[in-house]
Amino acid sequence: MKIIKCKDYEEMSKRAASYIRAIVTLKPNAVLGLATGSTPISTYKQLIECYNVGKLDFSEIISINLDEYVGLDDKNDQSYRYFMNENLFNHINIKKENTYVPNGIAKDLEAECKRYDDIIEKFGPIDLQLLGLGQNGHIGFNEPDNHFSFETHVVSLTENTIMANKRFFNSIDEVPKKAITMGIYPIINAKNVLMVASGKVKADAVEKIVKGNITPECPASILKYHKNFVLIVDEEAASKI
Ligand code: F6R
Repeated sequence: MKIIKCKDYEEMSKRAASYIRAIVTLKPNAVLGLATGSTPISTYKQLIECYNVGKLDFSEIISINLDEYVGLDDKNDQSYRYFMNENLFNHINIKKENTYVPNGIAKDLEAECKRYDDIIEKFGPIDLQLLGLGQNGHIGFNEPDNHFSFETHVVSLTENTIMANKRFFNSIDEVPKKAITMGIYPIINAKNVLMVASGKVKADAVEKIVKGNITPECPASILKYHKNFVLIVDEEAASKI
């Protein structure tokens, strides 16, 4: 595990964007595993800036997102498909048909999970998996549990995650209670894993990854033995390590 400590969110985002730039430059048809949430927003902005000045080409890139809320479609501004379009895909030359996000409104959610695993299998292994970090140690929406779930699955979001995500919705009742998430296997099978974590609220989870044992009660802890795991943290997120 390589830990890069940065002064603040902006520096963390710049470092993360440089890492992604390097992968896209070295492998123009790379498979990127992408994340949503507030943390990668500025990383995506930096990538858009590089694209705008002609320094990056996404025309052959494939992207596979981690997760999607159950019940939200691509027109809902809180869906992760909408987020990705707004924060990255609409601003670069990635082909939309090469971008994958689970379908949160699939009638048969189990079949959707299988379809998503087939997509991951077809294009994988993922060259670079970008991850945010849940306050409770979740990655994607792999929530703390007594076992790791390796395949794509439907998950009931924990109280902690619902509370953390309510800031994006008008009220807590609007926060979806379920999501579809990629399982742990494609994440640990990715050639490179890059996690970004910012702010005091992430300090406990960062400490568990760095100092704790591997346990499904902190799903992110599994990353500590990935041979190409880079954790980029700002000062506040790094305050307990
Ligand atoms: C998003 C995702 C989640 C977030 C995590 C942190 O696709 O998979 O694991 O990365 O909830 O979210 P923020 O960055 O909003 O703190």
